[in-house]
Amino acid sequence: MHGKVASMYHGPLKLFQLSDIHFGLEDTRALAWAKACIAREKPDAVVITGDLTMRARYSEFDAASAWIKALGVPVTVEVGNHDIPYFNLYQRFFAPYKRFRAIEQMVESELDLPGLAIVPLRTTTRAQYQRFPWSNGWVTDKALAECLAAIDAHPEGTRILVAAHHPLTERRERDGKLLTINGTRTMEALAGRKVIGVLSGHIHDPFDLTAETPAGPLRMIGAGTLSRRIRSTPPSFNEIVIDGGGLHVTARNLEHVATQDMQIRDVPENALPPRDPDEPVSPVGTVPRADPPVN
Ligand SMILES: [Fe+2]
Ligand SMILES: [Fe+2]
Repeated sequence: MHGKVASMYHGPLKLFQLSDIHFGLEDTRALAWAKACIAREKPDAVVITGDLTMRARYSEFDAASAWIKALGVPVTVEVGNHDIPYFNLYQRFFAPYKRFRAIEQMVESELDLPGLAIVPLRTTTRAQYQRFPWSNGWVTDKALAECLAAIDAHPEGTRILVAAHHPLTERRERDGKLLTINGTRTMEALAGRKVIGVLSGHIHDPFDLTAETPAGPLRMIGAGTLSRRIRSTPPSFNEIVIDGGGLHVTARNLEHVATQDMQIRDVPENALPPRDPDEPVSPVGTVPRADPPVN
């Protein structure tokens, strides 16, 4: 979905990247604080990078839709692996997005702001013949082609942010385990188009890393969670300011932990709290002693 085409630089922009709210297991206090920040600061846009719900239940979507519709700022919502029907397999395969109906115009929608376009990239799939379970990402050829076509529709020089649910890292650093299928090729294609950043969720810890690709560097920005399903950091969201000097990320949280102490230095497999000594953990290290509930 396209609005007006972004053009020249028009002054600083402030975005809030919220992720993994997981309505059904949301952190009520953190979510009320995020909502108050949005009401007070009126960011130019809110980017929600997926996992809006816990189990894609109708009641969870109702709560999520009401919350999002009341924000009063432009919003784009990416689809996470928790947002397509889990119990109803017929719907999962034949109408996976039906439950987004109340906010469907925001789902995977492009946002065009003065001098900046936020372009969606779908990484969540209904099934994966390559493996089971299907919770990790896959950038299909079709999803990549759609994203690149949306980028290429803008005049050269337009600043582009890409919004996805899964980080694009294809292999886990420590043992080469497969994470996002087709991620490496996607990163190279985005770097070649001078995308200024890829926003993602799924991990529940924030990060701000630069990946080197054959086509040049690519900034990879992950947001934490606003749910009770925390991994190694307290609930947070990213404030992203884009000005003449570049793109600045702050991992805002109610515990007043500094951004550099919130951010992890490597992309783990998923949002489960680390259990092995060599798994990447933020210095703040508030790893829960027991895994948080999944229902
Ligand atoms: Fe999540
Ligand atoms: Fe996820």
